[in-house]
Amino acid sequence: MTAAMTSTVLVVGANRGIGLELARELKKRGHDVVATCRETSEALEALEVEVHRGVDVTDDTSVTALRKALAGRVLDGLIVNSGILRRTSLDPLDLATVPKSSR
Ligand SMILES: NC(=O)c1ccc[n+]([C@@H]2O[C@H](COP(=O)([O-])OP(=O)(O)OC[C@H]3O[C@@H](n4cnc5c(N)ncnc54)[C@H](OP(=O)(O)O)[C@@H]3O)[C@@H](O)[C@H]2O)c1
Repeated sequence: MTAAMTSTVLVVGANRGIGLELARELKKRGHDVVATCRETSEALEALEVEVHRGVDVTDDTSVTALRKALAGRVLDGLIVNSGILRRTSLDPLDLATVPKSSR
């Protein structure tokens, strides 16, 4: 993406790992980053992006609170990064295991 294509991107699970690096790169490229986390980190705070703390994707209450906090906002991109890697086969894909990919 170029600076001329600046957009607002929501990164869910941005306090560390891939989510943090995606947030950092998006910010570097001039995009408006809205980051969420269960607990923030020094690295995330150092990015100086909009941070929504206490967002656990397995907790309906905190997801609803995020939805309310972002009501009316236009989001051009959504990266749902939060989760844990479970090395299971996708063939066949058991949809019942998908929610378990988030702690
Ligand atoms: N790294 C790889 O090689 C690889 C390969 C394939 C897929 N993936 C997927 O890519 C994503 C990120 O990988 P990563 O290596 O960056 O993992 P990571 O370092 O373990 O980071 C996981 C992130 O997800 C957050 N998270 C986990 N459960 C959450 C929940 N219930 N609610 C909100 N946030 C939650 C964590 O927050 P906390 O700090 O609060 O735990 C953390 O920010 C994961 O979904 C992983 O399965 C990674």
